[in-house]
Amino acid sequence: MPARKIIIDTDPGQDDAVAILLALASPEELEVLGITAVAGNVPLELTARNARMVCELAGKPETPVFAGCDRPLAHDLVTAEHVHGKTGLDGPDLPEPSMPLQDGDAVDFIIETLRAQPEKTVTLCPLGPLTNIAAALQRAPDIAARIQEIVLMGGAYFEVGNITPAAEFNIYVDPEAAEIVFKCGAPITVMPLDVTHKALVTSSRNEAFRALGTPVGIAVARMTDFFERFDKEKYGSDGAPLHDPCVTAYLLQPDLFSGRFINVEIETRSDLTRGMTVADWWRVTDRAPNAMFMGDLDADGFFSLLTERLARL
Ligand code: RIB
Ligand code: CA
Repeated sequence: MPARKIIIDTDPGQDDAVAILLALASPEELEVLGITAVAGNVPLELTARNARMVCELAGKPETPVFAGCDRPLAHDLVTAEHVHGKTGLDGPDLPEPSMPLQDGDAVDFIIETLRAQPEKTVTLCPLGPLTNIAAALQRAPDIAARIQEIVLMGGAYFEVGNITPAAEFNIYVDPEAAEIVFKCGAPITVMPLDVTHKALVTSSRNEAFRALGTPVGIAVARMTDFFERFDKEKYGSDGAPLHDPCVTAYLLQPDLFSGRFINVEIETRSDLTRGMTVADWWRVTDRAPNAMFMGDLDADGFFSLLTERLARL
């Protein structure tokens, strides 16, 4: 079975970093065609830096990394240093990247790759605000039909918001982009807070990372040590929720997850509920389903997959 071709669109972010590491640790199953950085958790210059630092931590400096959009389509950028720290990758002490950024623009890379690869053979894996993906769809509407699947981390329904009472961060930062993506017609699988808040790095799970004794294991343990303080304080949760690695784990072992194929629309007009993912979980409307919206996962299975794969790096 040939490896699945993916583009990871990301705003690292400690949890993005773990998602990237999991993908790079699984070359038999996933061929990372490129990583596209977007402004989100921290500004673009830092997300593009952090993405390269993670590739080098994984020992994969040949991974093409592109910089994309430095601000949302229609709003000022909202960042999350309060969660991820000033650099976006606080916690481990990693060297500045030596691998270069690719010359081209991330949005062009997404368009050119989708046009160059056979139809429906490339999966897009957005882990941050959907600005790059939406910009590509606006610039080249023809690519929508060429996308195999969009597997994204974003949104919330029963779990409600984490940046406002109504909205999850990735969707909140660029709701217009999210609306474009959710209406583009490509198959969409969503990892909302409803499922990612069940992927908690408890202390025993974090000790398993540290016990790997490798630079990757120790760095991941330090990332989650840093990253968890926000959620522990806010939710009283037992550890950090590993949001973005749910995307990669789904690609590797989809049966870890369960959800419903439902209609999901994005609130873009109200200041009060901007960025809310209005998920018709109970199918109370006649709006056509457009997304597989995940609600549950086998957390122990998730962490044993993640730990086993990180051990390979
Ligand atoms: O709300 C969680 C999401 O926002 C994650 O992708 C995290 O990295 C931040 O981008
Ligand atoms: Ca992210």
